[in-house]
Amino acid sequence: MSTSGYRLAVVGATGAVGVEILRVLERRNFPVASIRLLASERSAGKKLEFQGKPVTVELLEEKAFSGVEIAFFSAGATRSRQFIPAAQAAGAVVIDNSSAFRMKPEIPLVVPEVNPQDLDTHAGLIANPNCSAAILCVPLRPLHEAAGLKRVVVSTYQSASGAGAQAMEELKEQVGAFVRGEKPVAKVFPHQIAFNVFSHNTAVAANGYNEEENKMIEETRKMLHLPDLEMLPTCIRVPVLRAHSESVVVETERPLSAEQARALLAKAPGVRLVDDAAQNHFPMPLEASGELDVLVGRIRQDLSRPNTLAFFVAGDQLLKGAAWNAVQIAEELIARKLLKKV
Ligand SMILES: NC(=O)c1ccc[n+]([C@@H]2O[C@H](COP(=O)([O-])OP(=O)(O)OC[C@H]3O[C@@H](n4cnc5c(N)ncnc54)[C@H](OP(=O)(O)O)[C@@H]3O)[C@@H](O)[C@H]2O)c1
Repeated sequence: MSTSGYRLAVVGATGAVGVEILRVLERRNFPVASIRLLASERSAGKKLEFQGKPVTVELLEEKAFSGVEIAFFSAGATRSRQFIPAAQAAGAVVIDNSSAFRMKPEIPLVVPEVNPQDLDTHAGLIANPNCSAAILCVPLRPLHEAAGLKRVVVSTYQSASGAGAQAMEELKEQVGAFVRGEKPVAKVFPHQIAFNVFSHNTAVAANGYNEEENKMIEETRKMLHLPDLEMLPTCIRVPVLRAHSESVVVETERPLSAEQARALLAKAPGVRLVDDAAQNHFPMPLEASGELDVLVGRIRQDLSRPNTLAFFVAGDQLLKGAAWNAVQIAEELIARKLLKKV
């Protein structure tokens, strides 16, 4: 830690996303003067390592934000609603991973490769998007700039880690039980996740879409500034430990060949092209795990419709869909001089 760095707090530091925020801060050599790790009474007193040294986890309470300059929140929407006002009152700029404030018109919802300019109007709180929407928007942005997006049909293959640390444990335990010939027990997910596939575990709303699908529609439209973008998402949970994949079909206003799209995506920020037809090597969640970039490949023309492309995406949703995007927002705030140093 350095005296010229920032005083940070990580709310939900013991969770799947919180732990990744610590690793990304280290990996990026983020300027840190001090760091407070906050969680519930379940984890208060526990020690987590940061920059090779143990740091004690403290109880999340309003006074914990005194002197904090940047607060990363990733402890669920209820904690965000309850404690973000205290963090802001203490003078911290808050980057929130929960869904609590994402759709408020005055709150920027940002993926730095997609809409960094939205940070310019922030008033101390920036929302980090839903993980599936964040991963989708990274390749959509350059395609929209080149040919204008008309319609997006996307099917997700979402990993257990998207539902947090306990869901990852549940997948491992169920695989172990299955291999031992025992009956896997489902506690976190509503259905067996090991050796199974099911519709996303969020409630289905009156419009027939589940919460995750509605978030993908609303947040993608907000980040791309395309309120009328036609979208049809289908969100599915698969027995993958980490990193979400998405099969995407995009209809554009103007013609765009697969070759043109491949060339655009090859140089797009935040994208790594994995598109080797000869080796049948395309984006995979195993290869996306631990990567900051979103892997994109299987880019091809829809032979049944004009102006339509299909491609496949895999992105580490704990990183690009959460921790990395949050730290990247903080880096962007510093670069744009939108974070005052006291
Ligand atoms: N997982 C993802 O891919 C992902 C992606 C984007 C956004 N998010 C969002 O990020 C947030 C965290 O998700 P996660 O997957 O990291 O969940 P998680 O693994 O279940 O972690 C939850 C964290 O919140 C803390 N927490 C829970 N209740 C608390 C309370 N009453 N007071 C203080 N701390 C409390 C937990 O602390 P204890 O150790 O004390 O229980 C833990 O640190 C959620 O809002 C989620 O929607 C997650």
